[in-house]
Amino acid sequence: MNIILLGPPGAGKGTQAQRLVDSFGMKQLSTGDMLRAAVKAGTPVGLQAKAVMEAGGLVSDDIVSALIGEELDQMPGDQGAIFDGYPRTAPQAASLETILAARGRALSHVIELAVDEDALVERITGRFTCASCGKGYHDRFEQPAVAGTCDRCGGHEFKRRPDDNEATVRTRMAEYRTKTAPILPIYEARGIVARVDGMAAMDTVTAAIAEILAQA
Ligand code: AP5
Repeated sequence: MNIILLGPPGAGKGTQAQRLVDSFGMKQLSTGDMLRAAVKAGTPVGLQAKAVMEAGGLVSDDIVSALIGEELDQMPGDQGAIFDGYPRTAPQAASLETILAARGRALSHVIELAVDEDALVERITGRFTCASCGKGYHDRFEQPAVAGTCDRCGGHEFKRRPDDNEATVRTRMAEYRTKTAPILPIYEARGIVARVDGMAAMDTVTAAIAEILAQA
């Protein structure tokens, strides 16, 4: 299975992708995570991406598509891929087709997380992750079981993203509306889109996605 998780910032793409990795052994391919790693490492890609990301804009199509191709090349052919935050524009959607076909893969599902944009600012400004293993948490919706200790790896350091402030989130949402939402009809025409209520509780969203994948 090769699936796209589609939805605006804060819709829960990363949260659900992590759960699919845990339950189905698929690999999460998050262009946001790849770009943040490049920024942290100070690579040429990171240097180009840093300011764009902090402003909430989109990094160039060629850069992100190259990152996706490189990641797919490192995966076993039979391991499923979860595209999280990619594609985000029509040219990226076209590139993904070429990238997948060249590797003998095809998209099986596009899962749209339908959400109420007003609730997303709270979701995003409250989120934090474990600095060691990357597990995601939220001030209100998902605290570690023991305060200050990561449930997954026992780490004690947590971090927040520099683009998780209200002004940048609003720009990211506008980018989603104008550049990403218009790619949905491409997949609707192929009959591979399933909509899930992303405002439901996290476990309910996970169960809905698992049911869609089980029908494949
Ligand atoms: P990226 O990292 O992809 O960010 P995003 O799309 O803005 O998505 P987020 O990670 O903010 O949200 P999410 O949907 O994963 O939500 P999450 O699960 O964390 O991109 C960052 C930047 O990189 C972009 O702005 C751009 O500059 C650049 N970039 C990346 N990809 C690119 C591309 N392809 N092309 C060009 N540029 C690119 O959930 C949010 C919070 O809500 C969490 O705390 C979670 O615990 C909580 N939560 C989740 N689900 C629920 C629920 N059901 N109920 C209650 N709380 C919930």
